[in-house]
Amino acid sequence: MKGRASARVFRRRLSRPPAATGSASSPSSVHATKAARCMSRSPLLWFPMQLRKALQAGLQSLLERQVPSAQLAAELLLMHVLKQDRGFVHTHPELELPPEAADRYFRLIAERSTGKPTQYITGHQEFWGLDFEVTPQVLIPRPETEHAVEAVLELARREGLDENRRLKIVDVGTGSGCIALALASEFPRAVVFATDISRSALVVASRNAVRLGMPERVKFLECDLLTRFLDGDFTFDFVVSNPPYVARDELHQLQREVRDFEPQLAWGGLERGDEIYRRLFPQALQVLKPGGHVVVEIGYTMRDAVISLLGSPWIEVDVRADLRGIPRVVSARKNPQPTG
Ligand SMILES: C[S@@+](CC[C@H](N)C(=O)[O-])C[C@H]1O[C@@H](n2cnc3c(N)ncnc32)[C@H](O)[C@@H]1O
Repeated sequence: MKGRASARVFRRRLSRPPAATGSASSPSSVHATKAARCMSRSPLLWFPMQLRKALQAGLQSLLERQVPSAQLAAELLLMHVLKQDRGFVHTHPELELPPEAADRYFRLIAERSTGKPTQYITGHQEFWGLDFEVTPQVLIPRPETEHAVEAVLELARREGLDENRRLKIVDVGTGSGCIALALASEFPRAVVFATDISRSALVVASRNAVRLGMPERVKFLECDLLTRFLDGDFTFDFVVSNPPYVARDELHQLQREVRDFEPQLAWGGLERGDEIYRRLFPQALQVLKPGGHVVVEIGYTMRDAVISLLGSPWIEVDVRADLRGIPRVVSARKNPQPTG
């Protein structure tokens, strides 16, 4: 619902008196109590409050708590409460926020101020143009991970493997399912598997497959890396992964949003940082067809270390940088003519 029609409905909602929550409370006393509660959180506030004022107060509160990307967070939380898009919020700054909505908004602002990521509060994150459910059981998909999806598309295109080919792809450490489902959406005929060692992550990933209209497209498996495929019954064109790679001595560089709220199993906290690549590459070699590709996301200092782990069974080693120029994705092709 957009534009004027949406604003009309919103105004109609505003014209209803606020519902009383306690038997002894009149609507106006409930309103006053909520206003007072809100006032105690921020001296700037008093009902009725316009969207612009609410946004300013929310932003101010987040800035005081040094929340990163505070403007974006303040907007997203208001959009979430209003169930409206950014355009609505910015084109109707004078609209008055219903007291219940204001109360909810400032409760969410307080939650965000503790460091809890906005996406865990709203329950959503967009990836590859798809809307993913996210919970604290899964890593929040990052925009830079889209480069891993791009790399698979580019390599497939380069080899003339178009969307009609029945490619076999496995996403290792699927989390929310973002890479696997993005690839399934790009290759409608592909057979896509996704593994994760976390059962609770796989529950979220399966829900995402359903809500994105691809319930049968990805087979989710609970297993350690690629161990379910090592018997050789199934071989792949692509092994793709965004594995955990943060080393213990890099912990202090993590934002509290990641360190305190995202699952450690997802981001790492590993002794060295390269442990998963060390195990993944030999397994990928076993499950890939001759000439198949491995595509992995890497940490911003890991380029040389990861390349050195690949060695002679791999050819056409390539590194892609993200939009900030940071090496982000390493790909390599399994040598179709192994040298003994
Ligand atoms: C960095 S997250 C990536 C999640 C998702 N692919 C993304 O890009 O947002 C790494 C994922 O690997 C999973 N994981 C960690 N160790 C694993 C292992 N040994 N085998 C399979 N999955 C593992 C974690 O549970 C987590 O979901």
